[in-house]
Amino acid sequence: MTARPSAVVLGGGGGIGAAVASSLAESHAVLVGYHRNAERAGAVVDKIIGSGGTAVACGTDATTGAGIDAALTAAEELGPLRTVVHCVGAWDYTRVTDLTEAVIDRDYRINLRSALLTLAAAGNRVADHGRIVVLSSAAAYLAPARQSVYVAMKAGLEGAARVAAKELGRRSITVNVVRPGATDTETLRSSTDPRAIDAMSKSNTARRLGTPEDIARVVAWLTSAEAQWVTGATVDATGGLW
Ligand SMILES: NC(=O)c1ccc[n+]([C@@H]2O[C@H](COP(=O)([O-])OP(=O)(O)OC[C@H]3O[C@@H](n4cnc5c(N)ncnc54)[C@H](OP(=O)(O)O)[C@@H]3O)[C@@H](O)[C@H]2O)c1
Repeated sequence: MTARPSAVVLGGGGGIGAAVASSLAESHAVLVGYHRNAERAGAVVDKIIGSGGTAVACGTDATTGAGIDAALTAAEELGPLRTVVHCVGAWDYTRVTDLTEAVIDRDYRINLRSALLTLAAAGNRVADHGRIVVLSSAAAYLAPARQSVYVAMKAGLEGAARVAAKELGRRSITVNVVRPGATDTETLRSSTDPRAIDAMSKSNTARRLGTPEDIARVVAWLTSAEAQWVTGATVDATGGLW
């Protein structure tokens, strides 16, 4: 019997990452990556195992090459590495006139440096015909006030993913970007003023916040065999927001 392929979901204990991990568990053994929140990652693993899947949690710092390598190595113990999804990220609402070196460096490490290092490690280690997906944000094109660094990092990530798609295409590895709009996660609720969340929930054609599962379905399709001919794409998963 051929071994089930493995998938790494960096940020797999997070709001969107947890839904992505659960959805990928239908076709992969899943490595759920976390940084600070072992409990949330453990709950995702328990849910997957409870549904008959295979999953393990791995605590690593995805802003370092060594941390990402450790997650990929742990996944390879579950099965041949086919899929890597980067769901790591963070944002705040600093005005451009209040930016400091510390704010820029923090956002850079979490949002862009970790995505670039993930593209590098996954590009080297994912099997031929594999899948790489990175999460951007609708902010990358909406350019909301107080999000200058986040917008810059997500726009950079989108460009880098398209370059990676070109370089890895000869091995039939696809690299795609998913751009969620406002999505109902604990981090959105704890970081954002309720009035702003209310406005966000009315700003798309569907007039509601996205759910983590809305995003996970798009990621799952991009990682499926059916999506072989889609690479270097940036897919809006926003309920229609422009
Ligand atoms: N929610 C939204 O409205 C929204 C909209 C557009 C785009 N996005 C993007 O979607 C992604 C997930 O967002 P979310 O709302 O699900 O947020 P979240 O729940 O806070 O998820 C972020 C994840 O990143 C992980 N992480 C942070 N720093 C890390 C590090 N140094 N090493 C490894 N992992 C690290 C966190 O792990 P620990 O908790 O274990 O530390 C967490 O699992 C992010 O890229 C975000 O920019 C979200």
